[in-house]
Amino acid sequence: MPFSFLKRNRTVAGFTRSSPFAVDMHAHILPALDNGPESVEESILLLQEMAANGVRKIIATPHIMGDYYRNTIEAIQFSLQRIRSELKRRCIPLELEAAAEYYLDVSLISMLENNQPLLTIAETYLLIETNIVGMPSFLPEAIKLARQRNLVLVLAHPERYHYLQQNFNLVVDLHKQGVLFQVNLGSWTSNHQGTRALAERLASEGFVSFVGSNVHNLRDWNQVNEALRGKTFAKLIEKGFLNQHLL
Ligand SMILES: [Fe+2]
Repeated sequence: MPFSFLKRNRTVAGFTRSSPFAVDMHAHILPALDNGPESVEESILLLQEMAANGVRKIIATPHIMGDYYRNTIEAIQFSLQRIRSELKRRCIPLELEAAAEYYLDVSLISMLENNQPLLTIAETYLLIETNIVGMPSFLPEAIKLARQRNLVLVLAHPERYHYLQQNFNLVVDLHKQGVLFQVNLGSWTSNHQGTRALAERLASEGFVSFVGSNVHNLRDWNQVNEALRGKTFAKLIEKGFLNQHLL
């Protein structure tokens, strides 16, 4: 694998850097599915920039949220194929897969309960997000149902949730129940004090299993790039995180 990557890098001008952030597992890069890029061109510009900065693989995670983002597996797969062929046509050395970021609501609980197919990461991890304010009442049920399906829940950007910012014991408790945490790279330089503080604490106390860009556009990516050069990310590399296992 490393050989083929080096070979590929030598053959494509402009894509020579590699990065400790080689795998992004939370990114809104498929066009016209959610609040990410609106067109194929916009999507490709963002992907080109990410590849040029050392990202080798992206697992696209469009929102799936009740009535608001009703993305089906078929629509996501169709979009994935479209972007994959565009990357190939333009010789952009980026591997692309698709999962989803599921909003924790009654519709997700019903999909879990009824054993409906779900878009997971490496057939193991189910990326979920919750409301920002209060402890979501569906969370214990989701943990139980995911376990029954041999899935590991990965909570997207826990640092953003007020109920965790206000009570770190909940973080510890969720972790004990097998929930993993994915922190957004941009959160370590966030203007929001509560978000930044929890992101710092999660990193210093070893609760970061995955990091993600959560990019929707080039502006998000610029903030991520800044974080990749920061001290917290350097410390995190020493501690290790699971992204690399997804290559
Ligand atoms: Fe997201």
